[in-house]
Formats: sequence, structure tokens, C-alpha cells
Amino acid sequence: MAKINLAVICGGRSVEHEVSLVSAKNILAAVDQQKYNLHLLAVAKDGSFRYYRNWQNFLNHPDDTNFVSLKPEGFTPVAFLSADARGQVLLLSETQEFLQLDVVFPIMHGTFAEDGKMQGFLEMLNLPYVGPDVLASSISMDKQVTKQLTDQAGIKSAKYLTFTSATRAEITLESIEAALGLPVFVKPANSGSSVGISRATDELSLYQAVEQAFSVDHKILIEEAIVGREIECSVLGNHGALQAGEVGEIIPSSKHGFYSYDAKYLDEDGAALLIPAPLSPAKKKEVQELAKQIFVTLNCEGMARVDFFLDGKDQVIFNEINTIPGFTKISMYPKLMMAETGLTYSALIDQLIELAIKRHQRNSALLLEKKMVE
Ligand SMILES: Nc1ncnc2c1ncn2[C@@H]1O[C@H](COP(=O)(O)OP(=O)(O)O)[C@@H](O)[C@H]1O
Ligand SMILES: [Mg+2]
Repeated sequence: MAKINLAVICGGRSVEHEVSLVSAKNILAAVDQQKYNLHLLAVAKDGSFRYYRNWQNFLNHPDDTNFVSLKPEGFTPVAFLSADARGQVLLLSETQEFLQLDVVFPIMHGTFAEDGKMQGFLEMLNLPYVGPDVLASSISMDKQVTKQLTDQAGIKSAKYLTFTSATRAEITLESIEAALGLPVFVKPANSGSSVGISRATDELSLYQAVEQAFSVDHKILIEEAIVGREIECSVLGNHGALQAGEVGEIIPSSKHGFYSYDAKYLDEDGAALLIPAPLSPAKKKEVQELAKQIFVTLNCEGMARVDFFLDGKDQVIFNEINTIPGFTKISMYPKLMMAETGLTYSALIDQLIELAIKRHQRNSALLLEKKMVE
């Protein structure tokens, strides 16, 4: 069988740039090179696209946490053009070289990556890509829009208020406390990795939290604080055939207070991860079914990790969805899916790629039908 030309795209302009590089490294190391020709593309922090010929260097330096092996000399700046009817070509601007790509794994998180923008770009290139499509990615990225849709589907989540820079002056401790109680969590509508999120207990911390959230997005959410456990579940599949992963639990260390950026990435002992989460079989099933329902409600296909709280009354409360979850060694998405299905890391990547190609074929067939009607 002919090898599949797989491009891994990492980096990006978001605050989660570094996390993305770690995920990409794991994916490159895991994919079966008998099946795939691998290509590495990265979006630098300035937004420029780079093609790395020496991606193996990246893997040959396990201690290279600063990604020196991906140093600037090792890349070719690239411009993309959809050059034929199938669009499965990209143009390397320096060498005028054409490269056949069959599928892309965009392993980038946050803004300009996980929010539908990269997905729209890949659609324009007519390339199949791993993970949810443009619509699902953008609605899942925006925490207010996500909640509007899940509320409508009857899915329970924390009570919240939304403010924009235009309504910011309406935020007072009295009105927030009356609506949501104290403490509250203040978060940018569009963010990730806990960037810009803080817990507020009084007037000063509320003021600081609002300031911080508005430095990340012009729309913010203020939420009632849920006291309880944090649990997560992976979902894999396209419309009509979904697989829920194992349910895991995250126990942030008490010194961080909540699952903050530091607890996630900077502090090795920042959080304990339990797989499986200690839950009754019925509760596990309830979480898995809810994860799939949320995945469908938000129009997702491919993959997503759905995060919940379990409150003091053992109620499952939806927190948020991540459409390009981390693929680092400690990342929950692959761990939970592998634990439930017995798939290896590389077989999981195979499945994600197969789902991407199948969706693209399905959508391409639809377009052809429409053309015939015209
Ligand atoms: N309403 C809430 N109640 C309690 N903890 C919360 C709440 N919202 C967020 N948190 C804490 O903040 C962390 C990050 O918030 P989250 O909404 O998941 O944002 P991100 O997209 O940055 O991961 C959560 O994992 C949790 O520890
Ligand atoms: Mg989160």
C-alpha cells in the first residue's frame, strides 16, 4: 500500500505554542513510518509558516526542551497554494517545490489554531485534517457560545454571566455576589491552558481577575465556583459512530488552589492524574454518555476531550470542551482513549487520520453531487 503523506503542523500564535511543540514531538515519534511519509510544519510565534526538513533532529534530541534542534536555519519559509483541482499540494516558496500531502494533523492549541481558523485554512487547501471542523472548532472555543448550546440541550454547567469591554462597567462585587455567590471564577471567553483565569473572593481579587481576563479577550465569563472533583472523558469518532474513552480525574495540588497554568505545565507535582477516576460503573457510564452528547451538541467529529466537575451531590456538571487536546506524555486525551479501547498511541493516531480522510471523502462526495445538480 502506498504510504500516506502526513503533515504535522505545530506551534501557532497562541499562548499554548510550547505545549503544541511537545505534543507534536510525541506524535512524530509515535507514528508508524512504514505507513506514513512525515512532514513537519510549524507556525512561528510571528505567524509565519515554516517547513522543517530536519524534523528527525527534533526527535534525536530528547533533552532539547527549548527546541534548539528546530532552530531557524533548519527551515524553509513556505507559502501555501491550492494548486490543482484536488488541492492536495503545497508550494514551498523558496525552492518552488511541490509537495504532495494527503492529510494534516494540526496539533496546535488555542487562538488561530483550535478555534476554526486553521481548520478554515485547511478547508481552503482542500486537505483532510484531524479533529473537528470549522464550525465545531469555533463554537467549542468560545465558552459563552458553548454554554448557550449546551444549556439549550439541557446539559448542566456552572451558572455564569458574560461581559464584554462594552458592558465591563456593570461589574460590581454586589451584583456578582447576588447572582453567583462568592467565590467566582473569571475567565476569558476564548482561551486555554487556564491562561487569564482566576478565582475571585472579594472586591480586590474580582477587580484583578477581571483585568487579567480582559487582557486575553474582549469577552469574559464570570462563573459560580463549583466545589468538587474535576473529571475528563475523551471522545473519538465521526457522526454516527462515537467511542467514549475512560473517565479520568485531575486533583490539582492544594498549593495551586485550582488547575492553573502553573499546575498544568510548570510544576511537576502540580496535579495528580487518576486513570481511571474512582467512580461507580453507573457514574462512569453517565459521564461517557454525557461526553458523547456534548460532542454531538457542539457538532464535533474526530476527537475532543470533554471536561466536567462532580459536585458535592455527585452531580455531573459540564465545564468545557477541548477540540485539539494535548498529546504530551502526560496528556489525558490519548491516555483515556487508550485505557478504554486498548489502542496503542500509534493506532490511536491511525484512527484519527482515518476519520479525517473519511470525513473529507464524505464531504467531497456531497460537493460533487451538488455540482451535478447545477
Ligand atoms: N466554575 C468553576 N468552578 C471551579 N473551578 C473552576 C471553574 N471554572 C474553572 N475552574 C478551574 O479553572 C481551570 C481552568 O478552567 P477552564 O474553564 O477549564 O479553562 P481552560 O480552557 O483554560 O482549561 C479548571 O480546570 C478548574 O480547575
Ligand atoms: Mg480546562
